[in-house]
Amino acid sequence: VLLGESPHLLLTGGPGIGKTHLVVALYRQLSTVFGTELVAYANVPVFCEEAKAMYGRRQVANPWEGIESARRAVMLDDLFGRELSQHESAQIIYRLIDTIYRNGAALIANMNQDVDELKRRLPPHEISRLLAGCTIINVRAERDWRRK
Ligand SMILES: Nc1ncnc2c1ncn2[C@@H]1O[C@H](COP(=O)(O)OP(=O)(O)O)[C@@H](O)[C@H]1O
Ligand SMILES: [Mg+2]
Repeated sequence: VLLGESPHLLLTGGPGIGKTHLVVALYRQLSTVFGTELVAYANVPVFCEEAKAMYGRRQVANPWEGIESARRAVMLDDLFGRELSQHESAQIIYRLIDTIYRNGAALIANMNQDVDELKRRLPPHEISRLLAGCTIINVRAERDWRRK
């Protein structure tokens, strides 16, 4: 990303092993370098709720502005943190991946599910864009950090 390239990184692995922790650390570093306009972070389930809250209500903040302006890098945290509706995957996830791809921004994402699960959850066109030049890391940890 620092070299001006648009790499994709996908972290997979079970809950509580530090995927969000790493993605937030990357967000902090990249937004310090490039500024918060060119770099964005979105927790995907929360983003879906915010995007839907906009429908028919003009006064609600537009969550898309942050994604559209983030021409350097976007973090998509917890891609399938909850079961997405048909509308959410066909409209919201589609537009997220499309915007990031067309902007040539780096894409850093994480999900609890295995990468093979993508084909059950996203159309082939979105999977192809998400995985374009993507480094996939199956994160493992000795323990769930949320437990004592
Ligand atoms: N390397 C680490 N050192 C200390 N705390 C960590 C580390 N990795 C994760 N944690 C903490 O453990 C908890 C779970 O991590 P999180 O990143 O949310 O997991 P995941 O996104 O994989 O479900 C969080 O409170 C996080 O801050
Ligand atoms: Mg997480």
